[in-house]
Formats: sequence, structure tokens, C-alpha cells
Amino acid sequence: MSPKSVGIDAMAFHGPECFIDMADLAVARGVEPAKYIKGLGQTAMAVPTPCEDTVSLAIAAGRKALDAFGIDPTQIGTLVVGTETGVDHSKPVATYVHEHLKLSSNCRSFETKHACLGGTAGLTAAVDWIASGRARGRKALVVAADIARYGLNTPGEPTQGAGAVAFVLSENPRLLEVDLDIYGDYTRQVMDFWRPLYSKYAFADGHYSINCYLDALAGSWSDAMGKPGAAAGMPIGNFDACFYHVPFVKMAQKAHHRHWEAELGRAVAKEDTGLMAKINASFEQRVGPWLRLNSEVGNIYTGSLFLALMDYLRQVDAAREGKAISLFAYGSGCGASMLLAKVAQGAAGFGTRLDPQADIDRRRRLDLAEYEAITRAGESVDGNDGPELDPSSWKLGAGVYYRGTRNHMRQYG
Ligand code: COA
Repeated sequence: MSPKSVGIDAMAFHGPECFIDMADLAVARGVEPAKYIKGLGQTAMAVPTPCEDTVSLAIAAGRKALDAFGIDPTQIGTLVVGTETGVDHSKPVATYVHEHLKLSSNCRSFETKHACLGGTAGLTAAVDWIASGRARGRKALVVAADIARYGLNTPGEPTQGAGAVAFVLSENPRLLEVDLDIYGDYTRQVMDFWRPLYSKYAFADGHYSINCYLDALAGSWSDAMGKPGAAAGMPIGNFDACFYHVPFVKMAQKAHHRHWEAELGRAVAKEDTGLMAKINASFEQRVGPWLRLNSEVGNIYTGSLFLALMDYLRQVDAAREGKAISLFAYGSGCGASMLLAKVAQGAAGFGTRLDPQADIDRRRRLDLAEYEAITRAGESVDGNDGPELDPSSWKLGAGVYYRGTRNHMRQYG
């Protein structure tokens, strides 16, 4: 029989061990710090060293999720890694994660890619697998892992970052139940952000990408509204919190504004002070309180929506159990999904297990010279038979790290 309650049972974040302060970056680029801190909403940006690639981040996040929530690896029947920064044209990141987490040989595994939508595509595939009854009691591990690279001295530079959010999906989940009936999808071919096979850095038409994102939000909202029961379930007033893809924190504010416009069926100009006050109050209540992790980590592409969700779940109290939330995922190129969910009964008891604040506070602050040196070093580390990479050169802790490529095979240790 198909299960009725499916959703997120466990969650964890793992990010790079170094960061740069946004005020330091702004001063170095001759920009007012207020532009990055207030204008984009970012206080810090995670900086991955050459040893911290998508594989190492995904392994660490997956391990934390299983360990923190006491899940036996043999219970995992599907593993998906959503990423746009895979490490091989053919071999999925998931195979490395599968090996290091000692998952069962009968676990299916694959990688999903659609820019920042890949993790959500993995989530919906896993939810459908469980809801169909094919999981037969097993769980799915989905890891949304990425390294956002635009390059030094580019407009996108302050919207970089890196990290992985891992979540386990199951029947009768402990954290969040996904609505199986009301959801919306949207796809359109646009060149707002892309990364050709020959480039480590993304190409982006930044302002156009913001417009594509907002149009996709309206498109997926309207698709969701067409589902039975949506008229009663979708009003923003019903939601305790609204989550959006967060390439930079300010984007969530623009998204919430467009969400309201979709609901109202018309544009709301700044001059409409009455409605603007209502929308701003709604943002302060439903969106703003859950953006601290994003502001400290930066853009993690496909995991950024889930980082905001983690910020909410770590703060959930018993009064929020049973409350509805909305989730909007956007992947450039472009594709989008609007999902609804409900906080599971008992979720308030798990906030400290998924809280990544202690790890974030332990990160090492880089000065500009080291940040630039690390960024440049990262450009050449994927070549064959280069020097072995030593995690201690960047004062990294204990973990699984990328050590270089030998005989065309990536080495981890
Ligand atoms: N104090 C406070 N705010 C300031 C400021 C200052 N001194 N200077 C500028 N700002 C504000 C701007 O008003 C703007 O806010 P608004 O959009 O609410 O008006 C914000 O800071 C950004 O300024 P802007 O001039 O638009 O920055 P930019 O042209 O350098 O580009 C991006 C910003 C996001 C387009 C760029 O970083 C980028 O291309 N990023 C990669 C693509 C991306 O993230 N796309 C998102 C959708 S997927």
C-alpha cells in the first residue's frame, strides 16, 4: 500500500572550513560594504580549498545526516546527489558518496542536474519513489551539493559560496511532510546562467537571471494553483514560513514580493505604500527570520533553499508542529518547482541535531590574499598527475578530502 505521509526525516549541512568576510571583499573591490551586506544581504562567504570538492562536501553532509539521526546506512535504498558542479562528465558524485557511507550494494544511485534545481529534482524523485510504494519501507538519501564559482573581480563574485545539504526522505518522517497533491512545475529555455563543459566558472546575465527566476516563480505558482485543493491550501496567509532559492539573501525578499503579486493577480509598485507595508511585514514574519545561515555561507546553488529550511527547522518549537510552509526552487536555464509541506509532529525535538552553527562558527577567516590564492589554486587541481594535494596546507581538520588525480582517477583520503 502507498504511504500517505512522506517527507524529510533527517537533515545536515556541511560547508567549507574557510570563509571571507563580505566587508573585507567589498573594501578590496572598491565597493561600499553596504552594497554586499545590505544590498545583497550577505555577511560572509564560504571559500572551498582545492581539497574540498563537491564529493568531499557531499560525503561529509551525508555522514552527518545519518549519524545525527541514528539512521543505519543499510536502510537507504535510493541515493541521489543533486549538483551542477559534478566532477566527471560520466561518473556521478553519488558513487563516491555510496562507497564512503557504506550504503548497500542494492541501493540505486544517480546524479541530478538542472543548475540550482538539481537537489529539489532529487527530492521529488525520492518522494515519488516512496509514495509509489516501491521503496518497501526503505529510505532515500538526497544530497544537494555545489560550489558556486563566478571568478575573481566579476559581478557574481560576491554571490559565490559552497556547501552540501543532505536529507533523508522516508515514510512517517520526523521533520517535514511533503504535500503529495499540491505542487507546481515550470520550464523555459533561457540563457540566464550556464557553465559550458570547458569552463570552471559560470557565465551569468545577472539581472536577467533575477527576472527569469521571478517569472518562473509566478509560473510554478500558477501551475500549483491548478491542482485540486490549491485555492484553500495556497494563500500566503496559511503559511507559517515561505522558502525560496537563495543565491543571495536579498533575492528571497524579491521572491516573496513576486509571490504576493502572483496571489494578488497584479503588480505592486513601491508607491503603493499600504500594500508594500503588508508585504514587508509578511517578509519579516515568514521569510526573514530563516536566512541567517544563507547570509553566513553564501550561495550553495542547489542546496541554498534547504539551508534556509534548516534555519527554520533548528528554531521550530512545538507550537509550529503541523503548520504549513511553501518551498520554491529555481534552476537557471531554466526550471522551477513550487512545493508545499507541513512541519511533522515532534519535529521540535530535533532542532539541535541539525543545527550547523557550531561548525560555521569554527571556520577560519581568510584575508584577501589567501582567498585569491585559494581561488587561483582551485583552477588547476583537476588536471591529471599534478602534485598531491595536502589538506594541512590550508589547515583543514579531519575528513575525507580530494587529494589530486592519478592515472585519470580522482583520489580521496
Ligand atoms: N548600500 C545599500 N544597498 C546597495 C548599495 C549600497 N551602497 N549599493 C547597491 N546596493 C543595492 C542595489 O540597490 C541592489 O539592490 P536592489 O536589487 O534591491 O535594488 C543590490 O545592492 C545589488 O546591486 P546591483 O547594482 O544590482 O549589483 P550588481 O549589478 O553588481 O549585480 C547581481 C548583482 C546579483 C546581479 C550579481 O551579483 C550577479 O550577477 N550574481 C550572479 C547571478 C545571480 O545570483 N542571479 C540570481 C538569480 S539565480
